[in-house]
Amino acid sequence: MTSHKGLRRYRCFLVGLLLLCCLPSQGYAERILLATPHNRLVLQADPGQQLQLLYYGEDIEGVPSFEEESGGRACLPTFGDIDAVLLPALLVQHADGDLNLELRVQDTEYSVQTDYEEAVITLRDKVQPFTLRLFYRAWHNTDIIETWYEITHTEKHPVRLQRYDSGALPFTGEDPHLVHMHGDWAAEAVPTVERLTRGVKCIRNTDGARNAHLDAPEVMIALDGAPQENYGRVIGAALCWSGNFEIRLSTQSALSASGLLTSAYRLFAGIDPQASEYVLAPRQTFTTPHLALSFSPEGMGGISRAFHRWARTDGMLHNGMATRDILLNSWEGIYFDITEERILAMMDDIAAFGGELFVMDDGWFGGKYQRNSDNAALGDWGVDTRKLPRGLKALTDAARERHIKFGIWLEPEATNTTSELYEKHPEWVLQVRGRDIKLGRGGTQLVLDMTNPKVQDFVFNLIDTLLTNNPEIAYIKWDANASIQNYGSLYLPKDKQSNLYVDYHLGLLKTLERIRAKHPEVVIQNCASGGGRANYGLMPYFDEFWVSDNNDPLQRVYIQWGTSYFFPSNAMAQHIGGSPYVMTGRTTPVKFRCDVAMSGRLGMELQPAHMTDEERAQCTTAIHDYKELRELIQLGNLYRLLSPYESAAGPEKQQVASLMYVSDAKDHAVLFAYGLSSFMRQAGHRIRLAGLEPERTYTLTEKNIRHGEQPCALHGRSFTGAYLMSVGLDIPLSTEYNHDYPSRIFELK
Ligand code: DGJ
Repeated sequence: MTSHKGLRRYRCFLVGLLLLCCLPSQGYAERILLATPHNRLVLQADPGQQLQLLYYGEDIEGVPSFEEESGGRACLPTFGDIDAVLLPALLVQHADGDLNLELRVQDTEYSVQTDYEEAVITLRDKVQPFTLRLFYRAWHNTDIIETWYEITHTEKHPVRLQRYDSGALPFTGEDPHLVHMHGDWAAEAVPTVERLTRGVKCIRNTDGARNAHLDAPEVMIALDGAPQENYGRVIGAALCWSGNFEIRLSTQSALSASGLLTSAYRLFAGIDPQASEYVLAPRQTFTTPHLALSFSPEGMGGISRAFHRWARTDGMLHNGMATRDILLNSWEGIYFDITEERILAMMDDIAAFGGELFVMDDGWFGGKYQRNSDNAALGDWGVDTRKLPRGLKALTDAARERHIKFGIWLEPEATNTTSELYEKHPEWVLQVRGRDIKLGRGGTQLVLDMTNPKVQDFVFNLIDTLLTNNPEIAYIKWDANASIQNYGSLYLPKDKQSNLYVDYHLGLLKTLERIRAKHPEVVIQNCASGGGRANYGLMPYFDEFWVSDNNDPLQRVYIQWGTSYFFPSNAMAQHIGGSPYVMTGRTTPVKFRCDVAMSGRLGMELQPAHMTDEERAQCTTAIHDYKELRELIQLGNLYRLLSPYESAAGPEKQQVASLMYVSDAKDHAVLFAYGLSSFMRQAGHRIRLAGLEPERTYTLTEKNIRHGEQPCALHGRSFTGAYLMSVGLDIPLSTEYNHDYPSRIFELK
C-alpha cells in the first residue's frame, strides 16, 4: 500500500498539473485524483470529451499504471450518448422535445478544504444550453467519497428531467453479490443477499414521505463472492435522501481492455423517477441528493465502520460526536392515557433508575378535539389541559426538580380530518381536487403539503414557539406516521404536479435547516412509525432515530444487526420494553431485554409501575453499568462477530449473536453475546473477538450481572488480544434450568 504521504505527493503533482492546465483548460489532457485515507478515485477530464471514471477502489500501489491506462467508462451515462446502451443515469427532455444529452467537459475546479477535497467538473451538452456541475468530495479522515450534481439550463422553456440518478458507479468483480436491507414496519432492516446476474436488479421505495421500512436506500456490493463480515472487497453506497428512490444494479457483457469478454457492472442510485418527472425552469438549479460511496477490503464490517465514522465526525449525524442521554419514553407504558399524575410518577421512576431524560409521547395535546386515540387532533398543538391542567411548565419544573431533562412528541407534518387545523386550512393537506381524499392512520390522518411555504412556516413556528416558550424542553421526538397517498398539491401549479414527491422533501429539508439554525442544541429524534426514516438524507438534522416500533428483544437483535450496517450506535435508539411483549406475546428475562438495548442508545419504554422488584433492580444495574460503558458503546468502532442470521440453531447447537465495540486506541472494548435459542444440553459457540491489539493483554469484567447471581468464570481473567482474536472465548450462555434467552456483557481493558 502506498503511504499516505507518497500518495499526497503524487496527488499534489497531479493537482499542480491540473491547476496549470486550468483556466482555460481547453486542449489539455486532465486527470483528477481524489483520495481518502484508503480509497482512491481517478477521473479523466479531457476538455471537450466525455468525463470518464478510470478507477475507484482501494488506494494501492500500481493503480496509476494499469487500471488507469486500461481505459475508463462514462462517469454519468446520459441518454443519447456513448456508454449508456443499457441504462442512462440521466434522461431529460429539452424544451424543443429533443431527448438526447451529450455532456462534454468544459471546466474543472479542485479545492482542498479543512475536512475534504473536492473536484467540480462542469459539463455542457454539445448542442443545447444545458449545463451540469458534477461534484466529487473525498473526506480526509473517513473513507467516504460523495458525488452529486447541479443542473441548470437557459433553454427557452422548462426542461423535463425524466431520470436523474445522483451517480452511476461502474465496478468490476469476480462474482459480485448485492446486500440490501429489506423489511417492514416492526421488522426493519433484514439484510438480503443475492448474486448479481445478467440484467437489471432494481430496489425502490415509493412511500412518498418515508423510505426505509420496506427497502432502504443503502446497499453493499461484495465484489468477489458471498459477502463476509471481516474480509473481502466491498463497496458501500448510501443515497442521502428521504424520499422515493431507485437503486439499480446492471450486469452486461463487455470487452475488457485486454480483449476478454467480461461482465460490466454498474450501480445507479437516485430519486425514483416514477411520477417524479421534474420540471426545471430556465436558470433554475436542481441539485441531486448526494450519493456516498466507500470501498473496503475488510468486508462488510469495514464499510459499516467507514459510514459510522463519517456520520459522527463529518457532520452527517447532528452532534455526531456527542453521547446521548438514557431516557424513559411514555408510549408503551401508558399510550394516550396521559395525566399529570402518571407523567410525574414515570419521571420519579426514571430518576430513581438513574436515567437522565423523560419523554412524553403521543396524547398530550388537543383543543376542541382530544387526542385519546390516533384519529384526532394532529396539528392542534396546544396542551390538553383536561389531561395536564398545569400545562407543560409544571412538567419541565418537575423534571428539573428530579434532576432529569424533559422531552416531547410531535408529528409536525400531519393532521387529522378531525382537527381544528384541518377545519381552518383544508388547503394545506396533500389532495387532488375532484378526487376523494384517501385517509391514513386512525382512518383520519392526512399529510400536510410541505411544498407550500405557508406550511413550512407553520412547522417551523410550531417547533420554534414550543422551544421558545418552554426553554427547558431538551428533546423532541419528530414522528411521521403516514405515507403520501394523495398525489396532488393545491400549492404547486398544474404543470408542476410531478415535482410533488421531490419538492415535499426539499420543503422538509428547508424547514429543518431553519429549525437547526435557530435550535442547534435541542436533541431531535427522527421517528417514522419506527425506523421508516433511518437514512442519510435526514441524519444531519437529527441526533438519533427510533430503530423500530418493535421492542421485542429477540427480534430487536436482528433489527439492530441490519440497522448497524450503515448507522452508528449513538444514532440508534433502543429501549427496554415490557414482558410479555405487547406485539409478539413473548416473555423474556429482564436481563436479556437490558443487554439487547444496551448495545445502542439505551432507553426504557414500559410502565415502571408494573415492574417487579427484580426488574427494577436489574434496570438500575443496567443503567449504572451503561453509564460506565456509554462512550465506548456510542462512539466506539463496531465489530459484528457472530451473526444471528448465520449462527446455527437447533437442539445440538445454540444460536448466538455477538458484537463488540472497540475504542480508537484499542485499549478498551465491550463485548455483547446473546443466546437466541434454548434447548437443554445444546453446544455453545466459541466467539472470536476482533479489532483488538494482538500484543496487548486485556482483562475481562462482566457487566450487568444477572440479579442475584455471581459473575461468571471469565470475570477478572486476562488474555492477549491475539488469543482473543484467534482462539476466542467460550462465553457461558447457559440454557439450563429456566435460563431462556441468556446474555452476557464483558468490558475489556
Ligand atoms: C409511532 C412511533 O413509532 C411510536 O413510537 C409512537 O410514538 C407512536 N407513533 C405514537 O403515535
